[in-house]
Amino acid sequence: MLGHTRCISACTKARARYAASAMNQPVQTSHHEHRYLVKFLIMSVLSFFIGTVHGLLQVIPAVRSWLDSIGSPYGGPGHMIDPLAHAHINLVGGVTILGMAVTYYMLPKVTGKPIHSHRLAEHSFWWTTVGVLSFYTALLIFGIIEGNLWLSDPALVPSVHRFYGPVISVSASILAIGFWIYLANVLLTLKDIYRNADSPS
Ligand code: HEM
Ligand code: HEM
Repeated sequence: MLGHTRCISACTKARARYAASAMNQPVQTSHHEHRYLVKFLIMSVLSFFIGTVHGLLQVIPAVRSWLDSIGSPYGGPGHMIDPLAHAHINLVGGVTILGMAVTYYMLPKVTGKPIHSHRLAEHSFWWTTVGVLSFYTALLIFGIIEGNLWLSDPALVPSVHRFYGPVISVSASILAIGFWIYLANVLLTLKDIYRNADSPS
Protein backbone atom coordinates (compact mmCIF):
# COMPACT_ATOMS: atom_id res chain seq x y z
CA MET A 1 0.00 0.00 0.00
CA LEU A 2 2.80 2.35 1.00
CA GLY A 3 4.67 1.41 -2.19
CA HIS A 4 1.53 2.11 -4.23
CA THR A 5 1.15 5.57 -2.61
CA ARG A 6 4.82 6.31 -3.30
CA CYS A 7 4.37 5.26 -6.92
CA ILE A 8 1.35 7.55 -7.35
CA SER A 9 3.31 10.43 -5.86
CA ALA A 10 6.38 9.71 -8.07
CA CYS A 11 4.23 9.31 -11.20
CA THR A 12 2.41 12.57 -10.50
CA LYS A 13 5.73 14.38 -10.08
CA ALA A 14 7.08 12.80 -13.27
CA ARG A 15 3.95 13.88 -15.21
CA ALA A 16 4.23 17.40 -13.83
CA ARG A 17 7.89 17.55 -14.88
CA TYR A 18 7.07 16.26 -18.32
CA ALA A 19 4.26 18.80 -18.70
CA ALA A 20 6.52 21.62 -17.49
CA SER A 21 9.24 20.55 -19.89
CA ALA A 22 6.81 20.27 -22.82
CA MET A 23 5.49 23.76 -22.07
CA ASN A 24 9.05 25.07 -21.95
CA GLN A 25 8.60 25.93 -18.24
CA PRO A 26 11.40 25.62 -15.67
CA VAL A 27 11.36 22.14 -14.11
CA GLN A 28 10.94 21.87 -10.32
CA THR A 29 13.54 19.35 -9.16
CA SER A 30 13.69 17.62 -5.79
CA HIS A 31 16.82 16.50 -3.95
CA HIS A 32 15.50 12.99 -4.29
CA GLU A 33 15.90 12.77 -8.04
CA HIS A 34 19.59 13.69 -7.90
CA ARG A 35 20.26 10.80 -5.54
CA TYR A 36 21.60 8.69 -8.45
CA LEU A 37 24.56 11.12 -8.53
CA VAL A 38 25.78 9.94 -5.13
CA LYS A 39 27.60 7.01 -6.76
CA PHE A 40 29.53 9.45 -8.99
CA LEU A 41 30.67 11.32 -5.86
CA ILE A 42 31.61 8.10 -4.06
CA MET A 43 33.62 6.93 -7.09
CA SER A 44 35.36 10.32 -7.33
CA VAL A 45 36.31 10.32 -3.64
CA LEU A 46 37.43 6.68 -3.82
CA SER A 47 39.58 7.45 -6.88
CA PHE A 48 41.19 10.45 -5.20
CA PHE A 49 41.90 8.22 -2.23
CA ILE A 50 43.55 5.55 -4.39
CA GLY A 51 45.33 8.21 -6.50
CA THR A 52 46.74 10.16 -3.58
CA VAL A 53 47.88 7.00 -1.72
CA HIS A 54 49.53 6.04 -5.03
CA GLY A 55 51.06 9.54 -5.22
CA LEU A 56 52.43 9.34 -1.68
CA LEU A 57 53.83 5.85 -2.28
CA GLN A 58 55.69 7.00 -5.36
CA VAL A 59 57.57 9.69 -3.41
CA ILE A 60 58.74 7.30 -0.65
CA PRO A 61 62.51 7.07 -1.35
CA ALA A 62 62.65 3.25 -1.61
CA VAL A 63 59.69 3.12 -4.01
CA ARG A 64 60.98 6.16 -5.91
CA SER A 65 64.36 4.60 -6.56
CA TRP A 66 62.72 1.32 -7.66
CA LEU A 67 60.46 3.33 -10.04
CA ASP A 68 63.47 5.27 -11.35
CA SER A 69 65.34 1.98 -11.90
CA ILE A 70 62.49 0.61 -14.07
CA GLY A 71 62.29 3.64 -16.32
CA SER A 72 59.76 5.95 -14.64
CA PRO A 73 58.60 8.51 -15.70
CA TYR A 74 59.79 7.84 -19.27
CA GLY A 75 61.82 5.18 -21.02
CA GLY A 76 60.74 1.91 -19.37
CA PRO A 77 57.90 -0.08 -17.77
CA GLY A 78 57.88 2.28 -14.75
CA HIS A 79 56.13 4.75 -17.12
CA MET A 80 52.92 2.71 -16.71
CA ILE A 81 52.90 3.15 -12.92
CA ASP A 82 54.16 6.75 -12.75
CA PRO A 83 52.80 8.84 -14.42
CA LEU A 84 50.17 6.89 -16.42
CA ALA A 85 48.31 4.93 -13.70
CA HIS A 86 48.61 7.75 -11.16
CA ALA A 87 47.51 10.46 -13.60
CA HIS A 88 44.42 8.59 -14.85
CA ILE A 89 43.02 7.37 -11.54
CA ASN A 90 43.19 10.98 -10.31
CA LEU A 91 42.16 12.79 -13.50
CA VAL A 92 39.59 10.35 -14.88
CA GLY A 93 38.35 8.58 -11.72
CA GLY A 94 38.57 11.66 -9.49
CA VAL A 95 38.15 14.75 -11.70
CA THR A 96 36.22 13.58 -14.77
CA ILE A 97 33.62 11.48 -12.94
CA LEU A 98 33.09 14.41 -10.56
CA GLY A 99 32.74 16.61 -13.68
CA MET A 100 30.07 14.27 -15.04
CA ALA A 101 28.08 14.52 -11.78
CA VAL A 102 28.42 18.31 -11.85
CA THR A 103 27.12 18.43 -15.45
CA TYR A 104 24.18 16.12 -14.72
CA TYR A 105 23.28 18.26 -11.69
CA MET A 106 23.91 21.68 -13.21
CA LEU A 107 22.36 21.28 -16.67
CA PRO A 108 18.77 20.95 -15.33
CA LYS A 109 19.42 23.78 -12.85
CA VAL A 110 20.84 26.13 -15.46
CA THR A 111 18.42 25.35 -18.30
CA GLY A 112 15.32 24.32 -16.35
CA LYS A 113 15.08 21.16 -18.48
CA PRO A 114 15.68 17.56 -17.38
CA ILE A 115 18.67 15.50 -18.52
CA HIS A 116 17.83 13.71 -21.77
CA SER A 117 18.20 10.22 -20.29
CA HIS A 118 18.86 8.97 -16.79
CA ARG A 119 19.49 5.54 -18.26
CA LEU A 120 22.32 6.94 -20.40
CA ALA A 121 23.65 8.74 -17.31
CA GLU A 122 23.77 5.40 -15.46
CA HIS A 123 25.54 3.84 -18.46
CA SER A 124 28.09 6.67 -18.62
CA PHE A 125 28.87 6.08 -14.94
CA TRP A 126 29.30 2.32 -15.13
CA TRP A 127 31.31 2.22 -18.37
CA THR A 128 33.64 4.99 -17.17
CA THR A 129 34.02 3.41 -13.72
CA VAL A 130 34.71 -0.12 -14.96
CA GLY A 131 36.98 1.38 -17.66
CA VAL A 132 39.09 3.52 -15.34
CA LEU A 133 39.43 0.83 -12.66
CA SER A 134 40.50 -1.81 -15.20
CA PHE A 135 42.79 0.72 -16.97
CA TYR A 136 44.44 1.59 -13.64
CA THR A 137 44.76 -2.04 -12.51
CA ALA A 138 46.18 -3.15 -15.86
CA LEU A 139 48.79 -0.34 -15.87
CA LEU A 140 49.78 -1.16 -12.30
CA ILE A 141 50.02 -4.95 -12.78
CA PHE A 142 51.89 -4.77 -16.11
CA GLY A 143 54.12 -2.01 -14.72
CA ILE A 144 55.10 -4.12 -11.70
CA ILE A 145 55.57 -7.42 -13.57
CA GLU A 146 57.42 -5.90 -16.53
CA GLY A 147 59.42 -3.63 -14.21
CA ASN A 148 60.66 -6.56 -12.13
CA LEU A 149 61.49 -8.55 -15.28
CA TRP A 150 63.30 -5.51 -16.71
CA LEU A 151 65.61 -5.69 -13.67
CA SER A 152 65.99 -9.47 -13.43
CA ASP A 153 65.71 -10.78 -17.01
CA PRO A 154 64.98 -8.05 -19.61
CA ALA A 155 64.80 -10.61 -22.44
CA LEU A 156 61.52 -11.87 -20.94
CA VAL A 157 59.79 -8.47 -21.02
CA PRO A 158 58.35 -8.90 -24.56
CA SER A 159 56.75 -12.23 -23.60
CA VAL A 160 54.63 -10.38 -21.02
CA HIS A 161 54.26 -7.14 -22.98
CA ARG A 162 52.48 -8.90 -25.85
CA PHE A 163 49.44 -9.26 -23.56
CA TYR A 164 49.56 -5.58 -22.62
CA GLY A 165 48.18 -4.32 -25.96
CA PRO A 166 44.95 -6.36 -25.96
CA VAL A 167 44.29 -5.80 -22.22
CA ILE A 168 44.86 -2.05 -22.29
CA SER A 169 42.88 -1.66 -25.53
CA VAL A 170 39.83 -3.35 -24.02
CA SER A 171 39.94 -1.28 -20.82
CA ALA A 172 40.67 1.97 -22.72
CA SER A 173 37.74 1.24 -25.06
CA ILE A 174 35.36 0.65 -22.13
CA LEU A 175 36.58 3.96 -20.71
CA ALA A 176 36.11 5.75 -24.02
CA ILE A 177 32.57 4.33 -24.40
CA GLY A 178 31.73 5.81 -20.96
CA PHE A 179 33.01 9.23 -22.08
CA TRP A 180 31.08 9.10 -25.36
CA ILE A 181 27.81 8.07 -23.70
CA TYR A 182 28.23 11.07 -21.40
CA LEU A 183 28.96 13.33 -24.37
CA ALA A 184 25.94 11.98 -26.29
CA ASN A 185 23.66 12.49 -23.27
CA VAL A 186 24.77 16.11 -22.87
CA LEU A 187 24.39 16.82 -26.60
CA LEU A 188 20.94 15.18 -26.69
CA THR A 189 19.90 17.27 -23.66
CA LEU A 190 21.01 20.44 -25.44
CA LYS A 191 19.14 19.31 -28.55
CA ASP A 192 15.97 18.77 -26.44
CA ILE A 193 16.38 22.28 -25.03
CA TYR A 194 16.79 24.00 -28.40
CA ARG A 195 14.03 21.93 -30.01
CA ASN A 196 11.62 22.90 -27.19
CA ALA A 197 12.73 26.53 -27.42
CA ASP A 198 11.86 26.54 -31.15
CA SER A 199 8.44 24.90 -30.75
CA PRO A 200 5.49 27.27 -30.10
CA SER A 201 4.37 27.15 -26.44
C1 HEM B 1 48.98 13.05 -2.20
C2 HEM B 1 48.78 13.52 -3.40
C3 HEM B 1 49.72 13.36 -4.56
C4 HEM B 1 51.06 13.09 -4.60
C5 HEM B 1 52.02 12.86 -3.45
C6 HEM B 1 51.44 13.08 -6.01
C7 HEM B 1 52.72 12.82 -6.47
C8 HEM B 1 53.08 12.78 -7.78
C9 HEM B 1 54.40 12.45 -8.27
C10 HEM B 1 55.59 12.12 -7.40
C11 HEM B 1 54.36 12.50 -9.62
C12 HEM B 1 55.47 12.12 -10.57
C13 HEM B 1 56.32 13.18 -11.10
C14 HEM B 1 57.32 12.55 -12.06
O1 HEM B 1 57.67 11.38 -11.89
O2 HEM B 1 57.73 13.24 -12.97
C15 HEM B 1 53.03 12.87 -10.01
C16 HEM B 1 52.60 13.02 -11.31
C17 HEM B 1 51.33 13.40 -11.66
N1 HEM B 1 50.27 13.64 -10.81
FE1 HEM B 1 50.29 13.46 -8.80
N2 HEM B 1 50.35 13.35 -6.76
C18 HEM B 1 49.27 13.53 -5.93
C19 HEM B 1 47.97 13.82 -6.30
C20 HEM B 1 47.57 14.10 -7.59
C21 HEM B 1 46.22 14.54 -7.96
C22 HEM B 1 45.09 14.79 -6.96
C23 HEM B 1 46.23 14.69 -9.31
C24 HEM B 1 45.13 15.11 -10.23
C25 HEM B 1 43.99 15.63 -9.87
C26 HEM B 1 47.55 14.33 -9.79
C27 HEM B 1 47.93 14.35 -11.10
C28 HEM B 1 49.18 14.02 -11.56
C29 HEM B 1 49.55 14.00 -12.97
C30 HEM B 1 48.65 14.38 -14.14
C31 HEM B 1 50.89 13.60 -13.04
C32 HEM B 1 51.73 13.40 -14.28
C33 HEM B 1 52.38 14.68 -14.65
C34 HEM B 1 53.17 14.45 -15.92
O3 HEM B 1 52.57 14.38 -16.97
O4 HEM B 1 54.41 14.32 -15.79
N3 HEM B 1 48.34 13.98 -8.71
N4 HEM B 1 52.25 13.03 -8.87
C1 HEM C 1 39.17 7.37 -22.88
C2 HEM C 1 39.88 7.98 -22.00
C3 HEM C 1 41.38 8.01 -21.98
C4 HEM C 1 42.29 7.12 -22.46
C5 HEM C 1 42.04 5.82 -23.16
C6 HEM C 1 43.61 7.67 -22.20
C7 HEM C 1 44.81 7.06 -22.53
C8 HEM C 1 46.05 7.63 -22.40
C9 HEM C 1 47.28 7.05 -22.85
C10 HEM C 1 47.40 5.73 -23.61
C11 HEM C 1 48.28 7.91 -22.52
C12 HEM C 1 49.76 7.67 -22.71
C13 HEM C 1 50.44 8.25 -23.83
C14 HEM C 1 51.91 7.87 -23.65
O1 HEM C 1 52.24 6.67 -23.76
O2 HEM C 1 52.71 8.76 -23.36
C15 HEM C 1 47.70 9.03 -21.85
C16 HEM C 1 48.39 10.09 -21.31
C17 HEM C 1 47.83 11.07 -20.53
N1 HEM C 1 46.49 11.25 -20.28
FE1 HEM C 1 44.99 10.02 -20.86
N2 HEM C 1 43.47 8.86 -21.56
C18 HEM C 1 42.12 9.12 -21.41
C19 HEM C 1 41.56 10.20 -20.83
C20 HEM C 1 42.24 11.20 -20.17
C21 HEM C 1 41.62 12.31 -19.48
C22 HEM C 1 40.13 12.57 -19.43
C23 HEM C 1 42.62 13.02 -18.92
C24 HEM C 1 42.57 14.27 -18.08
C25 HEM C 1 41.48 14.75 -17.53
C26 HEM C 1 43.89 12.39 -19.29
C27 HEM C 1 45.16 12.82 -18.93
C28 HEM C 1 46.33 12.32 -19.42
C29 HEM C 1 47.64 12.86 -19.09
C30 HEM C 1 47.92 14.05 -18.17
C31 HEM C 1 48.58 12.08 -19.80
C32 HEM C 1 50.07 12.26 -19.80
C33 HEM C 1 50.65 11.46 -18.70
C34 HEM C 1 52.16 11.55 -18.82
O3 HEM C 1 52.72 10.79 -19.63
O4 HEM C 1 52.73 12.35 -18.11
N3 HEM C 1 43.61 11.27 -20.03
N4 HEM C 1 46.34 8.83 -21.78
